[in-house]
Amino acid sequence: MKEKLRVGIIGCGGIAHSHMRAYLKMEDVEIVGGADIVPGKARAFLDEFGLKDVPDFNSHEALLEKVQMDAVSVCTYNTTHRVCSVDAMQAGLDVLCEKPMSVTLEEAVEMTRVSKKTGKILSIGFQPRYDPDMIMVRDLVRSGVLGDIYYVQTGGGRRRGIPGGTFIRKDLAGVGCLADIGCYGLDMALNAIGYPKPLTVSAYSSDRFGTNPKYCSEADAFTVDDFSVALIRLEGDICMDFRMSWAMHMDTMGDTLFLGTDAGLKVKSPRLGEPWGGAWDGTIGPVYLYTDINGNHVETSVPLKAQPFDRFYAKVRAFVDAAKTGGAAPIPASQILYNQAIIDGILRSSQSHREVEIQIPEI
Ligand SMILES: NC(=O)c1ccc[n+]([C@@H]2O[C@H](COP(=O)([O-])OP(=O)(O)OC[C@H]3O[C@@H](n4cnc5c(N)ncnc54)[C@H](O)[C@@H]3O)[C@@H](O)[C@H]2O)c1
Repeated sequence: MKEKLRVGIIGCGGIAHSHMRAYLKMEDVEIVGGADIVPGKARAFLDEFGLKDVPDFNSHEALLEKVQMDAVSVCTYNTTHRVCSVDAMQAGLDVLCEKPMSVTLEEAVEMTRVSKKTGKILSIGFQPRYDPDMIMVRDLVRSGVLGDIYYVQTGGGRRRGIPGGTFIRKDLAGVGCLADIGCYGLDMALNAIGYPKPLTVSAYSSDRFGTNPKYCSEADAFTVDDFSVALIRLEGDICMDFRMSWAMHMDTMGDTLFLGTDAGLKVKSPRLGEPWGGAWDGTIGPVYLYTDINGNHVETSVPLKAQPFDRFYAKVRAFVDAAKTGGAAPIPASQILYNQAIIDGILRSSQSHREVEIQIPEI
């Protein structure tokens, strides 16, 4: 096992701070470089953490060329996830790439192929997977207690929660609400049921709130989706009902439901009443199991752990452990490819006003 993992940070904006805070808690990690295309941004970022002697660069290419590293965190906006991750893996580095994996399915396919070809780790940053209550839900679903699962409803949505900056611009984010929080709802539900392959999507997306100055202070710059619903057919004769919004006149688009032939599980939307609550992007509300015992309808409340837990640290630590031991990607690209395929399908279906097939090429 390597003594210290040498890590570089690509993209030194908002979320890079969470990566850096996690790495700096680890004695077996050394931060060896940072890069951002905005001149001076990587320097200021490194200085903010007291890393005065760590070199900064104005491009990820320069960082990859000049610094000896083992791994990078890709913390850029969505449209540059592909190029930074692919270049890093081809330079022999393991990659922790922020969610969403990419903008298009084509990009996600390329990233997965490069990971396979180079043998380098490509792990995608879905920290809610490490939440103890999310794990409890996942394990309950996987236990088999629900019988054959045939329907999943997921998403939730925010009443008011349109971010700004790079998140709302098509040239930088590529995709809006779907890529920001939609991918979380998809990941938690799909991961619980074993990530079956998506087959078809019929979807509707819109941008009515983001483009309205009454609800979005940067309405003039808003060029992405803010609302989506979709019916997704999954391999195994499973149907997924997905709903997500950044803003709406409603507290939630619904709880998360898993329906099986023996029991059903309801995961209530979290933090209702809070403007940014309601989406399944980190915490969950109360959980109930519905079943039938001797002809009686039984509803059981499943206790939550609800303890403070640093999900972000857990995500970064799992990546570091895999990189140090040569282990498998904790949240593998080969799986998240299906998440990206659904997002891609939702946008295609919405644009073409009809159901579309999802075709994922061989990796
Ligand atoms: N896991 C989470 O909880 C979480 C939270 C917020 C954002 N994110 C994700 O993190 C990513 C970044 O979000 P953010 O809020 O930090 O955005 P941001 O705009 O604050 O930061 C992105 C930075 O990347 C830089 N950049 C872009 N292309 C680059 C390149 N080729 N080389 C070097 N630098 C480059 C930009 O200049 C910018 O400084 C997004 O994909 C977002 O979805 C994840």
